[in-house]
Amino acid sequence: MSTLAEAERYVSRLVKSDSRHDAWAIVADHALVGLVCVSVDDENRSGWFWYWMTDAARGRGWTAAAAATIARWALTTGELARLELGHRVNNPASGAVARRAGFVKEGTEREKFLVGGQRIDVDTYGRLRSDPSPSLDPIPMIDG
Ligand SMILES: CC(C)(COP(=O)(O)OP(=O)(O)OC[C@H]1O[C@@H](n2cnc3c(N)ncnc32)[C@H](O)[C@@H]1OP(=O)(O)O)[C@@H](O)C(=O)NCCC(=O)NCCS
Repeated sequence: MSTLAEAERYVSRLVKSDSRHDAWAIVADHALVGLVCVSVDDENRSGWFWYWMTDAARGRGWTAAAAATIARWALTTGELARLELGHRVNNPASGAVARRAGFVKEGTEREKFLVGGQRIDVDTYGRLRSDPSPSLDPIPMIDG
């Protein structure tokens, strides 16, 4: 994706899809700036958790706040028992977001991906319904 219009089409497809993706747009001043999504595994009542934030809006704590909010929603209203995610170890911001959203590091998948000729480890995280909630205040969620 290289334009805002492409990004908006992509998020719109995800948000409207009635597939297993519970996608939540992060909006500031009526503009899309990021996304938090739970790709649901109904059989196991679990979800794969992922997020991104546009360059210009990074570093403000917005992804962490949105991730904490959506994780709490998924484990309560969403009735999931477990959320999980993984990030490349050379992407420490993603791990920081996960920890701020109450995820606990569960392990490292060694040399999981081949990127630019280099094998990269991936850290894995999980959050259970019974895990303590993080201290971040939830942000407003608007459904539909
Ligand atoms: C990872 C990503 C979502 C972080 O977004 P962000 O809006 O900058 O995150 P926040 O502002 O909410 O910051 C959350 C935490 O990350 C930390 N952080 C931000 N950038 C960092 C960096 N480059 N290195 C280490 N920590 C960093 C912040 O200090 C903060 O931690 P703290 O609250 O303990 O101080 C963003 O960089 C991104 O979209 N990357 C590309 C997509 C991606 O990697 N997605 C994750 C795959 S699941």
